[in-house]
Amino acid sequence: MRRSNLPHVAATLTLALVAAGCSAYSSSSSAASAPAPSVAAAPAPAYTPAMVALGDSLFNTGGCQRCHGAKGIGARNAPSLVDGPWLHSDGSFEEIAKIVTSGIAKEEFKDPARPFAMRPRGGPANLSDDQVKAVAAYVHSISRGKK
Ligand code: HEC
Repeated sequence: MRRSNLPHVAATLTLALVAAGCSAYSSSSSAASAPAPSVAAAPAPAYTPAMVALGDSLFNTGGCQRCHGAKGIGARNAPSLVDGPWLHSDGSFEEIAKIVTSGIAKEEFKDPARPFAMRPRGGPANLSDDQVKAVAAYVHSISRGKK
């Protein structure tokens, strides 16, 4: 029975690759046609690789890594964003962006031993909406191990 799954998996992968190719080269003519059927296992991310790259630099040279550790692996003042349970969200890009925008008050912390509130928009960095989205894209991209 397992053997008969293989062609299906291969077909799904091929579809995913074709879909990725189409979107990478989408032109005005393809935009006018009906949207391609979505491939269940590969929802289109709401962000681009350029946003992840900007978010990486904002996170790792700015204030985030001071509490969350280099590359978000966690440190004394803040939890890992790479693995472990989600404490304040479902882990979606949108919810991560909301958290970065609003910050987290100490009263909301799951671990009351954390000494400092997470300030809105990175505190002194005062991230713009676009920078918040970039940082959220980066956090989403490193958080695949979180549940
Ligand atoms: C002053 C320390 C501090 C700084 C700076 C900080 N955070 Fe946090 N962050 C925390 C703490 C503490 C928590 C929640 C811990 C708890 O609930 O016990 C948290 C939680 C989060 C969460 C929610 C994680 C979850 O499990 O739901 C995200 C996402 C996050 N931070 C992203 C960022 C980003 C991005 C930045 C930089 C813009 C940043 N943080 C800067 C301390 C900080």
